[in-house]
Amino acid sequence: MTQNREAWGSRFGFVLAAAGSAVGLGNIWKFPYIAGENGGAAFIFIYLICIAIIGFPVLIAEILIGRTTKKNPVGAFAALTDSKLWVSVGFLGVIAGFMILSFYSVIGGWTIGYVVETMRGSLTHFATPDEAGILFGSLVGDIRWGIGFHSLFFALVMLIVIRGVKGGIERASKIMMPVLLSILVILIIRGVTLEGASKGLAFLWVPDWSKINGQSVLIALGHAFFTLSLGMGAMLTYGSYMSKRDNVVSSAALIVFLDTLIAIMAGVAIFTAVFASGLNPAAGPGLIFQTLPAVFSTMPGGDYFSFLFFLLLAIAALTSAISLLEVVVAYFVDEKGWSRKTAVLIFGGVIYLLGIPSALSFNLLADAKIFDKTFFDVVDFTASNVLLPFGGLMIAIFAGWIWSRTAVMTAVKAGAENLFEAYPWFEGLWFLFLKYVAPVLITLVLLKSLGIL
Ligand code: TRP
Repeated sequence: MTQNREAWGSRFGFVLAAAGSAVGLGNIWKFPYIAGENGGAAFIFIYLICIAIIGFPVLIAEILIGRTTKKNPVGAFAALTDSKLWVSVGFLGVIAGFMILSFYSVIGGWTIGYVVETMRGSLTHFATPDEAGILFGSLVGDIRWGIGFHSLFFALVMLIVIRGVKGGIERASKIMMPVLLSILVILIIRGVTLEGASKGLAFLWVPDWSKINGQSVLIALGHAFFTLSLGMGAMLTYGSYMSKRDNVVSSAALIVFLDTLIAIMAGVAIFTAVFASGLNPAAGPGLIFQTLPAVFSTMPGGDYFSFLFFLLLAIAALTSAISLLEVVVAYFVDEKGWSRKTAVLIFGGVIYLLGIPSALSFNLLADAKIFDKTFFDVVDFTASNVLLPFGGLMIAIFAGWIWSRTAVMTAVKAGAENLFEAYPWFEGLWFLFLKYVAPVLITLVLLKSLGIL
């Protein structure tokens, strides 16, 4: 079995695929709106610190667990410990993969739907964000539209994952990631050349510290996790296809760099345009689907930029969604001996079906609330705010306290000998963050999610 396990074609291929997982709706949809709601520059500063002190150390650990064991999250913990507790942590990761993908695909479907609506000319003639909001409401409120694009998005995800790690995921990432970066560059050039763009740039660079409080720090911390795809074994699974000759630390640094760069670039593209049109940067989750169409409506060439923007969003969502499905597929391939094809078709199918009530949460089931939340909200909240921080906490504790330090160091030094020789302080700092800083901070995030803080 092990000899035939799939692998990336190159380190570059791995970095692009992992960056593809990290760069998603989190970067282009969520990051700009939470930055907008929490005062811009000051929030971004806090977020960068969170990425550096918990995102980066935990990312290295997660990739390392995968690479060392060459297994999915369940198999990986089973290979490193005898304890059932850790195996169930891996199992929770697979469950989180099911859950996140099911609702992620619904929003992914909207992004494709918006590309299509732009082509039909229905997205760029708004006088106000409210008008765009009405169209948004009627699109997602339409059962056929919602389910239709969810199905299309999901079919694309399955089509890529079924072709395997190298021929499917890596190949798709090598095409889609450069396209994504090129589109962003075009949108930034458009944004900064608009009249009034400088107000948007000031919003991003000049901090307003009065907006920062305990809540915004916790939001930044939680987002650091989501945006790096941490806490459920996605990076672990991608790491399991990585060669022992490659450097885990510098690869992780590159993934963090690309993810952060793209979030900031999206922020620049979006806020220059929003401020140039005199609209509200703190519009919340509707910033992308409601404020931006109003922005594009006022912009020369708005149709083209709207098309490019939603294509960008769709690509970002797609490369993330494939990493979620891969976790589930790797589990059934490694542990149950299934073929990749069967695993993709059967469990892809199950996740697709699970997504249907999420898609219906915006129309048919909008009033079916559990604790005041729709089905979509319940799945999103449980996975993103509870399971991910919990998984991240456990990974930090595992690498910091359970796995022996000598074993961790042997594993991480493979392919990175020079780095640890050149920067001898790195080891101590990494363990400091893994053992103390990350567990304490993540626990705070978890307590906040559970309403205790
Ligand atoms: N990181 C992605 C984003 O920013 C979302 C994502 C993909 C994810 N795979 C994940 C989040 C695994 C957590 C775990 O949109």
